[in-house]
Parts: sequence; C-alpha cells; structure tokens
Amino acid sequence: MVVVMGVNNMRMVDLIQKKKLGGKLSRDEINLIIKGYTSGEVPDYQMSALLMAIYFIGMDEEEIAYLTLAYVDSGDKLDLSAIKGVKVDKHSTGGVGDKVSLIAIPLVASVGIPVAKMSGRGLGHTGGTIDKLESIAGFNTNLPGDKFISNVNTYKMAIAGQSANLTPADKKIYALRDVTATVDCVPLIASSVMSKKIASGADAIVLDVKVGSGAFMKSISDAKELAMTMVGIGKSLNRKTIAVITDMSQPLGNEVGNANEVKEAIEVLAGKGAKDLTTVALTIAAYMTVLGGAYPDFEHAYSKLEQLVMTGKAIEKFKEFVEIQGGNPDFIDYPGKLPQAKNHIEVKSSKCGYIAAIDAEAIGVAAMLLGAGRKKKDDLIDYAAGLTMIKKIGEKIIAGDAICILHTNLDEYEEALAIVLSAYSFSDNPPRPINYIYDVIH
Ligand code: URA
Repeated sequence: MVVVMGVNNMRMVDLIQKKKLGGKLSRDEINLIIKGYTSGEVPDYQMSALLMAIYFIGMDEEEIAYLTLAYVDSGDKLDLSAIKGVKVDKHSTGGVGDKVSLIAIPLVASVGIPVAKMSGRGLGHTGGTIDKLESIAGFNTNLPGDKFISNVNTYKMAIAGQSANLTPADKKIYALRDVTATVDCVPLIASSVMSKKIASGADAIVLDVKVGSGAFMKSISDAKELAMTMVGIGKSLNRKTIAVITDMSQPLGNEVGNANEVKEAIEVLAGKGAKDLTTVALTIAAYMTVLGGAYPDFEHAYSKLEQLVMTGKAIEKFKEFVEIQGGNPDFIDYPGKLPQAKNHIEVKSSKCGYIAAIDAEAIGVAAMLLGAGRKKKDDLIDYAAGLTMIKKIGEKIIAGDAICILHTNLDEYEEALAIVLSAYSFSDNPPRPINYIYDVIH
C-alpha cells in the first residue's frame, strides 16, 4: 500500500526519504505526518522508519517547534484564561525519589504565583506526583474543571491528573518509540515534554533536567543539549522557560516510594529535609517564582523561600493544599497516619569503605518490585512500599552497617534486596563531592 496524504498528495515514503537524506520537514509535512499517524492512516512501520531517520539525522529548532505544536493540536488544550496572573508550571525529566513538585507547589503558591498543575501517574520505578498525593487519605486528584480553576484563583494552587486526551499523538508515538529504540533522541524527548506543558496551559515553565544513573540523560553534555532544546522550544512558542540541570547520580533525598516521599516532602517544608532535596526543590521553586514575576532574581527568590520554610508558612500552605483537595492533613503532625508497610528490612553491607556510586535506576527497580511502582499501566501501587536510603555517596561505612531499609507488604523481597546490594559501589578513598545543581539554561 502506498500511503498518500493531504496537501499535494504527499507520500509518506518520500518524507521518510527526505529526512533520511538530511532534509528539513516543513510545517505542513510535519502536521500531515502527525495527523496521519494519529488517525491510523500512516502505519506503524512507516512511522518507525521516520523516527529512526530523525534519531540519526536530528531536527532543527523550527522542525522541533512544529512537531511540538502538532502534538499540542492533536488533543485537548486546557483553557486557563480564567486564572489571573502568570501560570507557572514545572516538569522533571524523571528520576528516583523525585518529590520536588510536592514541595514546589505550596512554596510557589505561598508567594501568590498561581500553580495550576496537571500531572501524570508513574510507570516503572515509583508512582508519579498524582500517585504520591493519593497516598494521603481523601486527597482528590480528580477535581472538576470549575473547582480546579476556583482553587487556583483563591489559594493559588491545584493539581489534577492529566486529561486522557492530552497530546494523544505524543502518547501513540511514545509507545512506538519505546519498542523501536528511539526514546533517547533529544528532538523527540524535547517536543514530547514541552507539548504536554503547553497543552496544559502553562505561560511559563521551569524544567528540572536530571542527569546521572537514575536519569534518561547520563552525561552533563547530553542533559545540557536536552535543556537547551527545550528552552529553544519555549522561546519559539513564546513561553518563558528555564531549565535547571540537577543531579540524579543517586536517589534524590532519602525516601523512594510514595507515602514515604510525602513524609520527606513535609520534612523539607518544615526545614528539616535532606540537603540535596532541599537545595533542588527550593531552586526549582525559586525559578518558578522569578518567572511568575514575584522576585527580580533567583538569589532574592531563594532567600524568601527559605524564610517561608523557617517561619512555618510553607508547611501551613501544604496543609491548606491537602485540605482544599479533600485530604485529611492529620498526617502532617502524625506521619505514622500515612500508609505503613508490615515489613521493614535493613540492608547491611558486607563491605567497608566509602560509598562511591549508587545505581539510582536499580534502586528505582527495587522500589517497583517492593510494590511502589507499576510494571504495567493498570497495576495497583502499594503506597506504603519503598525504600529509605540510610547511606549515600561519600559516606564512610564499615561491614555490617545498614545502608538502606526496604519497606514492603510482600513476603518475598529477595530480588529487591539483591538489586539494592549490587546498586552500591565502594572505594577506599572518598569520591569527589557531588554537585546538586550543574547548570541553569535561560
Ligand atoms: N518524558 C516524556 O514525556 N517524553 C519523552 O519522550 C521522554 C520522557
């Protein structure tokens, strides 16, 4: 079958050939391809060939912006025009122990910048932000549209699960990329991420681009390329965008899971959080407030947010966040009210020395095996499951020290235990200290 599409009877095979030979696709061509693939007119095998051509040839800034817009136009677009002020969103490229959104939403809202957050559920490692919040009794992530808008206007914050019909073209293409080895391609990742933020109605976007063993991007130069590409899309499409490149060479903070990540977010908001998580979360939140126009520069914003934490205002705002979404905030004073696992297993090292590296992705897989994540889309999450990292990179240990605790309701956890043990590497000398923030791309 020869697939012939709309304008000037373009043939899909010719467009694949054009890209394969290094050509540039026009806006019309990109629109036709995306519409054709979403409707089923373009078959998987031709889309796969095009994706592979893009993987090797790349796309220029204009092509990437057109692809982003084609994704946005393929489905629902949120109309947030009834919300006053600059709507600022954030996005993380994904990591293990990443509970930054839970901290950033109340912090940014407490300085009067509206945060209207659409978030996804997680697949793999642990839950997404929505899953983590649903570990709180009563927390409703399915607010009706008018309630969502009125909460943002009144309290400056609301969160909801993404509409099923947000960027359907990206969803279909992402599934194809997953089985054609074309996920790790900067133009395709950048357009996929930015399309969801733009369709969700963001005026300004702060991107947390993770780099390291638990991230898509394993090197700082790759993370920088992705960050610059996404900031370029923002510029082309008139969205103020900043990308912060942050460390994911080990889990962020000490908790990996769902309910235990909520508990750790509270610790940060109360000024008692782990240093890496506190630094990354306040940095992302500070840039959000700068893009929202609350402060003239980052330094000013960061110190104001620190004050909110120290004075207890940040934790009060988090309490309000839980209440306005229907949740019971008692767990803030009594964390034991969050879901608790029946088994807590200490993982002890048989080695001595400094912790030189932790394979964060392996820790994520272990968390999933303990019940904290989904292998398949429809799997149920056990909110109580997860891990607590007792020792992290740079710490000195002796044989027999506990390095991690597994939390699970399962009675079989040997595989997770073995994965955690092999995720740690040791050295005789202290490793180089880790930066929490590597770069900021404006
Ligand atoms: N996250 C996305 O949303 N899209 C990608 O392509 C990769 C990560």
